[in-house]
Amino acid sequence: MADTVTIAAELRRLLPNAHAPYSGVQVAAAVEGVDGQVHYGVNVENAAYPQGVCAEASAISAAVTSGTTSLRRVYVAASLPGLVWPCGGCRQKIFEFAAPGCEVVTLGRDGEIASATIEELLPHGFRLGPAQVRRI
Ligand code: THU
Repeated sequence: MADTVTIAAELRRLLPNAHAPYSGVQVAAAVEGVDGQVHYGVNVENAAYPQGVCAEASAISAAVTSGTTSLRRVYVAASLPGLVWPCGGCRQKIFEFAAPGCEVVTLGRDGEIASATIEELLPHGFRLGPAQVRRI
């Protein structure tokens, strides 16, 4: 298991890579697979505002690209003071790939830390069962 201090330091290092010229809010995220692999992402905004991508979505895309599709932990850090929790859309994106009990850990600029399971952040989340999934 990757340790929180190492991941927190890496998130802080990556924050300036966020492309956030419109909001000015830099966010970095890491997702840890059940395979122990950790993947990172930052928010990538766009002049066509709704086309922007959250840091969590970037990290999930990197994980899936590498073949990691079962997540045991998600980490979020931001340039804002206080603790930033994933937006509603990202909660659904995390839920899609969450292993049971998947934890979301939010890391503040000044060393604050809090965590909650994805089930706590997204109660009654939407998921399709095998019968509803069309596989190629
Ligand atoms: N943002 C994230 O990347 N993750 C979050 O958990 C909250 C919000 C981004 C979206 C946008 O680029 C900026 O933060 C301000 O909303």
